Amino acid sequence: MTMSTSLLESMRKLMPRRVQSALDALGEAVAVFREIDDPRVMRSLGPSGVRGLLLKRGKQGVPSVMPASHGAFFDWGYPHDQPEMADLYTRAKRGQWDGDSLPWELDVDFDNPDIAMFPEGAFDWEFGRSVGMRLDARERMRLLIDLGTWAISQFLHGEQGALLASAQVTEAVQFMDGKFYGATQVVDEARHVEVFSRYLLEKAGKVYQINDNLFTIIDALMTDGRWDLKFLGMQIMVEGLALGAFGTMYHQTREPLLRELLRNVIQDEARHVHYGVVALREHITKELSERERREREDWAFEVAMLMRNRFLFYEVYDEWFGHKLSRADWRAFITRAPSMEQFRATMFGRLVPNLREIGLLSDRIRPHYERVGLGKYFGGRAADKLSAEDIISQAA
Ligand SMILES: [Fe+2]
Ligand SMILES: [Fe+2]
Repeated sequence: MTMSTSLLESMRKLMPRRVQSALDALGEAVAVFREIDDPRVMRSLGPSGVRGLLLKRGKQGVPSVMPASHGAFFDWGYPHDQPEMADLYTRAKRGQWDGDSLPWELDVDFDNPDIAMFPEGAFDWEFGRSVGMRLDARERMRLLIDLGTWAISQFLHGEQGALLASAQVTEAVQFMDGKFYGATQVVDEARHVEVFSRYLLEKAGKVYQINDNLFTIIDALMTDGRWDLKFLGMQIMVEGLALGAFGTMYHQTREPLLRELLRNVIQDEARHVHYGVVALREHITKELSERERREREDWAFEVAMLMRNRFLFYEVYDEWFGHKLSRADWRAFITRAPSMEQFRATMFGRLVPNLREIGLLSDRIRPHYERVGLGKYFGGRAADKLSAEDIISQAA
């Protein structure tokens, strides 16, 4: 540490906790911009980062209007030339389910440790104590409920992003079989918004605001006019993130209604990622120039890095520990939690093979993934080779 940074550090410690927190939050937002090396990626994500991380547009209590600029693609010849997409369309029609048929009548008692959303062991309480979290058993249980409610709230906001993005992609995609399939995904995503919001309102009794990083990613995808980047971002990156998160919660929770809900949602999501792999493989390997392909490859890596350690439950921190614990200690508490380790492993275990399958894991980019410890996933099975049952049993 240089003289000036240690001086700054000592000055920071003299400030009230509220000011320290605000500075830490600003430093983190700036770090997001600094982590992006590629100017083209910065052009695509930068304005969304300003709206999400600095202006906190998702947290102002008003609806957001995000301007869309993609082209709506019509084909008056109605080609039926993508058999794998056509097959997914058939499977999607047959796989529809009704959100009303979940066992809503179950009385969900979150205070019962046997059916908690997250079990005790999902977080490292010993570490929490060492940094000054003073909680008795009942408070720990309440905190676990809030952490679970926060996670499901982010699932809900992500589902709204998926609903609108899948509608956009259905307009923009050039495959007629893809448009048919995409229409079923729009219905699926509406159902996901329906069941997660009902769960939060009826059972948990509260909804947390959208996380700034999630807002930034959704804003970037909705406003980018290039349909394949939108598609890569939503169907591969965000859906991969969601499958990792749903799988982790499905594995950890013993709450029967939530398990049933997640099992149904995971089955739909498995189809969505499969479609993403099929459509992008076709597009990236056949339509794009090498320069365009490389830009997608860099973009995917940078977005993967942005997703890696950025879902840190700060809205729960603000509520519980805002002035009692530093954000850095909270960050460490969340990042080292066993449930978060499992989430990262599940997410990247799915994401990296999918990137390989669509042609975005060339020898040029592999060393970057290896450098951050993700090389072990290079050989995994991609979504087109995994059934929904595989995904659920891996999560179980
Ligand atoms: Fe969904
Ligand atoms: Fe989805």
